[in-house]
Amino acid sequence: MSHPDTPSPIASLPGAPLTGTARVPGDKSISHRALMLGALATGRSTIRGLLESEDVLNTAGAMRAMGATLSKQGEAWIVDGLGNGGLMEPEQALDFGNAGTGARLAMGLVGSYDFAATFIGDASLSSRPMGRILAPLRRMGTRVIARSGDRLPLTLHGPDAPIPISYRVPVPSAQVKSAVLLAGLNTPGTTEVIEPVMTRDHTERMLAGFGAEIEIVTGPDGARTIRLAGEPELKACDLTVPADPSSAAFAIVAGLVVPGSEVTVPGILLNPARIGLIDTLIEMGADLEIADRRDSGGEEIGDVRVRACELKGVTVPADRAPSMIDEYPVLAVAAAFAGGTTRMEGLGELRVKESDRLAAVAAGLAANGVEHRTGEDWLEVTGGRGRVAGGGRVVTHLDHRIAMSFLVLGLAADAPVTVDDGRVIATSFPRFIPLMEELGANFSSEPAVTGGAAS
Ligand code: S3P
Repeated sequence: MSHPDTPSPIASLPGAPLTGTARVPGDKSISHRALMLGALATGRSTIRGLLESEDVLNTAGAMRAMGATLSKQGEAWIVDGLGNGGLMEPEQALDFGNAGTGARLAMGLVGSYDFAATFIGDASLSSRPMGRILAPLRRMGTRVIARSGDRLPLTLHGPDAPIPISYRVPVPSAQVKSAVLLAGLNTPGTTEVIEPVMTRDHTERMLAGFGAEIEIVTGPDGARTIRLAGEPELKACDLTVPADPSSAAFAIVAGLVVPGSEVTVPGILLNPARIGLIDTLIEMGADLEIADRRDSGGEEIGDVRVRACELKGVTVPADRAPSMIDEYPVLAVAAAFAGGTTRMEGLGELRVKESDRLAAVAAGLAANGVEHRTGEDWLEVTGGRGRVAGGGRVVTHLDHRIAMSFLVLGLAADAPVTVDDGRVIATSFPRFIPLMEELGANFSSEPAVTGGAAS
């Protein structure tokens, strides 16, 4: 998917309260995995609620390029799978655009196949470290040709006989865990992954749902050992993707910080490995209720309702980071409006996201007059008790979550906030602007002219 060549700045304007229901799109993590496992299953899978964003559509394109048949019928995506082990050598490079999850999971998926697959992406993805995926693949016998620093573009060629490994994940990363497990699908014997800190478990859950034999043991220290029996037959599934808590986060925080707001976000995925932001906002004193908790295809979902209120600063412990890793930029926005200081620890992984998110958040806060301090892996934000100057111009560095977070800041600041390029929002949440407008938010495609600080 390509963007028009010129950046497209967007400004958010302070204004009326936000009210109503925000229907956010399907979960990005689950959407990638559903397409991949559907492509490998025997038979026809039906996926409802798939996130149709650039990142996920790139994964759909990659699965097509390797032989799977994907089509849309009405609201549902139909995937006619190849059967496990049936992927075919792609004729062209697989272009994952901005999508770290798509690229890294697909590397695992094809890394055990005896063919060549080349991975390319945009400037952001091409700057991100892939060594964390390549290290276990190399141990399984995969040959790699990559740009220096194990960066994209890179080509994988799997061995004729992949070696099952036991791999202790060195960084808390669901992408690394998932890549190894997906490589294990086309590997004889048992592939084992040990994760000292639990990360989102969608891959494990979905592998079990597609009929793979998977065993999970949690040790007394909380470390999880996941064992996958290799070369399973995967059976086609009907799936409904719940609403993405990481996308819901923008509407939730906006509803809390724009005075007078009341916003409901229905059907959000409440997987415990994903709701660190909700826990944190409740500790900050958020007027937040979860109603109608229910099951949806083996995942808990619920309707989250927030009302604008005063928030207070808290310390967010490092061990909560995996359950809210994508939500720190928007938490920093909530903290900017709180009373007191919010300290966030254990943020090392933010340095290697779509941008160096810690640096990008700090720059955005500085541009908008928010008091803050950062270290190598922590951030402290001292809030303005409901008042933030705003007026800044924020550099997004091809990072959708930086763009959306600072647009939320501008909805409640004293002066409009401009992000330098809104196109990248389409990677995860193409309807972000219209959906927020339906709640009453105001945006302008003209850069805001203000007297505030500029970055
Ligand atoms: C994801 C895992 C996280 C997260 C990303 C999605 C996934 O990355 O930041 O947006 O779907 O597995 P890491 O595994 O690198 O922490």
